[in-house]
Amino acid sequence: MYRIAPSILSANFAKLGEEITNVLDSGADIIHFDVMDNHYVPNLTIGPLVCEAIRPLTKAIIDVHLMVEPVDRIIPDFAKAGANIISFHPEASRHIDRTIGLIKEQGCKAGLVFNPATPLSYLDHVLDKLDLVLIMSVNPGFGGQAFIPEALNKLQAVRKRIDASGKDIWLEIDGGVKVDNIAEIARAGADTFVAGSAIYGAGKDSDPHRYDTIVSAM
Ligand code: DX5
Ligand code: ZN
Repeated sequence: MYRIAPSILSANFAKLGEEITNVLDSGADIIHFDVMDNHYVPNLTIGPLVCEAIRPLTKAIIDVHLMVEPVDRIIPDFAKAGANIISFHPEASRHIDRTIGLIKEQGCKAGLVFNPATPLSYLDHVLDKLDLVLIMSVNPGFGGQAFIPEALNKLQAVRKRIDASGKDIWLEIDGGVKVDNIAEIARAGADTFVAGSAIYGAGKDSDPHRYDTIVSAM
C-alpha cells in the first residue's frame, strides 16, 4: 500500500487550514509536519501550537518530523497537540532507545530518520521497536531541494531489513520526490512518500491537480 504525505512546509502559511483541507479533499491521508529549530537544522518553522491548531481540521494522520536538538523535551508537547507519528534524527538524541520509548509512552508511533550520510547501523538494535523508518533524500532544512540518488540504495537496504523483521514498519522517503522519480523510488522499496514542493508550489496555493498527478505517477 502506498501513501502520499504532503509536507505543509511548502504550503501558503497565510491560509494553512485551507491548504491542508485541499490536499485532504484530494485524497491525502497523512499530513507531514516539519519541525525545525534553527539549531539542528539551519531553518525555523512550526511547533506544537500549530499542530494543535490543525488537529481539529481532520482525523488524518499527523506525521511530525522533528529536526530539533535536544529532542526529548518537545515530544510530550507534540503528543498533547495531537501528533500520531513522531520521528526524530538519531544525532539529535543522546539515548535513542529512550527517545523511542518516550514517543510510545505518549501514545504515538515512533520513527527514526536517516540523513543522506547517516549510517543504517543505527537500526541495528532498535528496528523492532520502530513503526517507521524515514530516509532523507535531501539534507534536512529546506523544501525544494534536488533528490540525492544514493537514497535509492539506502531504501533497498532498509526494505530488506524491514521484510526480514516481519514487522509492519513503514518506509518513508522525504526530499525531492517528484512526478518523474516517484515510480523509481517506489521500486526501491518506499511505501510512504513525503512531497512538499511537488504538491504545494512554494508561496502559491495548493492545486489538487498536483496531488492527482503525483499519485498517478506511482
Ligand atoms: C526537508 C523536509 C521535507 C520537505 C520536503 O528538511 O524534511 O519534508 O518539506 O520538501 P520537498 O518535497 O520540496 O523536497
Ligand atoms: Zn520532513
